[in-house]
Amino acid sequence: MSVRVAVVPGDGIGSEVVAQAVKVLRKAAAMAELGIELQWGLAGGCAVDDSGDPLPDATLQLCRESDAILFGAVGGPKWDHIAPEIRPERGLLRLRQDLGLFANLRPAKVFTALVDASPLKRELVEGLDIVTVRELTGDIYYGEPRGVTAIDGGERGINTMIYTTAEIDRIVRLAFEIAQQRSRHVTSVDKANVLETSRLWRKIVERVAGDFPDIAVEHMYVDNAAMQLVRAPKQFDVIVTGNLFGDILSDEAAMVTGSIGLAASASLGHRTALYEPVHGSAPDIAGQGVANPLAAILSVALLCQYTLKLDDLARRIEAAVEQVLAQGYRTRDLHAPGTKPVGTAEMGQFVLHALG
Ligand code: IPM
Ligand code: MG
Repeated sequence: MSVRVAVVPGDGIGSEVVAQAVKVLRKAAAMAELGIELQWGLAGGCAVDDSGDPLPDATLQLCRESDAILFGAVGGPKWDHIAPEIRPERGLLRLRQDLGLFANLRPAKVFTALVDASPLKRELVEGLDIVTVRELTGDIYYGEPRGVTAIDGGERGINTMIYTTAEIDRIVRLAFEIAQQRSRHVTSVDKANVLETSRLWRKIVERVAGDFPDIAVEHMYVDNAAMQLVRAPKQFDVIVTGNLFGDILSDEAAMVTGSIGLAASASLGHRTALYEPVHGSAPDIAGQGVANPLAAILSVALLCQYTLKLDDLARRIEAAVEQVLAQGYRTRDLHAPGTKPVGTAEMGQFVLHALG
C-alpha cells in the first residue's frame, strides 16, 4: 500500500513547521512499512506572487489526486491590501470548498508537562481534553450575497449566514459519532436567541440526538461558551458548531492548553483530507527558526489516525511529543524558567529521536 500526500507549506512559518512535520511523516511511514509519495504545491501569498492566484490549478489538481494534504499556513501583511478575490486566505477557503472538507476537527488537549503553560490555573486545565468539531464549508464564510457596495453617503458591507438541514445534519452526526469514542457528551454552540440559522441548527441537533440516546447533549449560546471555556473548560468533551463560531472558539480552546503552537487540525470530507496547524502564518516570527513545529507534527498524527487509519502510529507520534516536552524542551512560545529553549528544527529533531 502506498499513500499520496500533497505538501502545501504556504506562507510565513508554514514552510518552517511543515519541513519538520514532513520528517516525522517520512519516519512514521517507514515505521509502518508504508510507501509514501510526497509532492509539493504552492498556495496562499507565495502562489499569488508566483502566478497571481492563491490556489493555482496545478495545486488544486495535485490536492484532488492526493489521499491527504499536509498544509502549513497562508497570509501575511504583504498581501493584506490586495483584491479580496486573490487574498491568500481565499486559496485555503476554495480548497476546503472544492474538496468538500465540511468537518474540521480541532483537538485541544493539555499535556501534563505543560499544565503550567496555560494562562488558566492548573486545577482548571489539568487533564483537559476537548475536541471542537467545526463545520467548514458553509455559514457566513461562503453565503451569498456578499460584498461591499456604494450607497448614499458611504458604502455597505454584506455577508450572509446560511445553513441548510443537510449541512447541519452531516456535521452534527459526525460530532455524535466522535463523542461515542470519547466521553459521550456533545455541546452544540449557537446563537439561537438571535439568529434564525441557529434556531434551525438547534432543531436539527435535537433530531440527530434522537439517534444517539447514549450521548448527553447540551445547547449553549456562543457568548456563554466563550466564557465557559475560560471559566471551567473541563465541562466540555465535544463541541459542535458552525464555521464562524468554530473559528473563534477553537482558537480560544487551543490557547487554554498553553499555546496555539500546539493545536493541530484535520479537515475531513468525502475522500482527500487536509491536515494543518491552527496557528496561521505568524509573519512576526517567520524566517527566524523559532516557530513551534509541534502543531504541524501533531497534524501528522491526525493524518495517521484519519487517513492511514493507523491509530497506534498516531499515538506513538503523540507520545514522542509528550516525551520531548517532559524532557523540558520548549520553543519560544512556551519558554518558562527551568526549561530548555530550542528552535524549530531542533524541536523537530528531538521528536524524531523520541519516535525511536
Ligand atoms: C482557520 C483560519 C482560517 C479560517 C483563515 C486563514 C481563512 O483562521 O483555519 O481557523 O478562518 O478558517
Ligand atoms: Mg482561525
